[in-house]
Amino acid sequence: MTDMPEPRPEANPIIKANYPRNCWWVATTSDQVQREPVALTLLEMPVVLYRKEDGGVVALDDRCPHRWAPLSSGKVTGDNIQCGYHGFTFGPQGDCVRIPSQSQIPSRCRVKRYAIEERPPFIWIWMGDPERIETGPPEQAQWPADPAFSFWTGETVADGNYMLLKENVLDLTHFGYVHATSFKILDWVNPPKVTTTDDTVTYRQEFIDCTLPPMFAEATGISMSKPVNRYNYGTYISPALNVATLDIEDPDPEPGTRSTYQFKVIHVTTPESPTRFRYLWFVGFDIPNMDPQMLLKFKNITDIGFAEDKAIIEAVHRRITHDPRHLDYPEIIVQTDQAAIQARRKLAAHLERDRQGPDAI
Ligand code: FES
Ligand SMILES: [Fe+2]
Repeated sequence: MTDMPEPRPEANPIIKANYPRNCWWVATTSDQVQREPVALTLLEMPVVLYRKEDGGVVALDDRCPHRWAPLSSGKVTGDNIQCGYHGFTFGPQGDCVRIPSQSQIPSRCRVKRYAIEERPPFIWIWMGDPERIETGPPEQAQWPADPAFSFWTGETVADGNYMLLKENVLDLTHFGYVHATSFKILDWVNPPKVTTTDDTVTYRQEFIDCTLPPMFAEATGISMSKPVNRYNYGTYISPALNVATLDIEDPDPEPGTRSTYQFKVIHVTTPESPTRFRYLWFVGFDIPNMDPQMLLKFKNITDIGFAEDKAIIEAVHRRITHDPRHLDYPEIIVQTDQAAIQARRKLAAHLERDRQGPDAI
């Protein structure tokens, strides 16, 4: 018998499950969950969500422990969900409260329940160890609930590993190539400054005495030919969330107009599997009650732009997975990759904590 070569566990890490379970992930948005059961795949697990009579969100394993039907194909009755196959009924904690054909309920007849925190516009879910739940989801994603902002949103599913998107939004030198005709931000060419904390990575890029790309000029009413200052910064908050901000400063505002504006983006990534993720974004200006037609126009631009990101990410993922060399190929790191490389390190540390327990260093 010949010796088999040692497996190389790190040979193809991009397609293994590189998402920590002990993390707050976005299950979906608040408006997507009402009384009807909603079926989702989150971190490879089937999950059903519904609202109780008091509006609270319930998240359960979407698999009946009787004959394994999806609970999401049943119906919500009061605060409970009734399986559509033989009528077993489960409460919000996952305990079975009724078996129609007998009065005795086996103690093992229950489904896993996941902790939920709803912070509009998002429903966050904890799919890891219930003993290790962190205090709460990140707070940097709540500005859409602030009436000082006008925002738009969109969602897509991408066939790729979610970290490809995280890395994409940390290196915006792709603007001039991927988004040359959508966002039309053509001056993002230099490496940004990058800073880190224990868990986060932030880039910062300043454009002094520069002009505004079309969407920002239209939103603020500042002429596209007028020199202004743009301060861009974005942060890897967690594996689930990146946020970005553009502060616009007009040093010489027209009488009666504002001198500063803020533009914000939330990038939410939720893996369905190692090779597929949902990408959800919220984008907005700190301008209340913007014209709905203008918001629709901006939504169309970002839908096109983020579809461009999806296309390039899926192309990269296909190249990694279909080419037999997989990750065994040179990866040249340049200065503009600094934030993405740091984010990889934060993720690696998070995965290590996941594996080893809360006190791991
Ligand atoms: S499979 Fe759910 S009640 Fe039988
Ligand atoms: Fe992009």
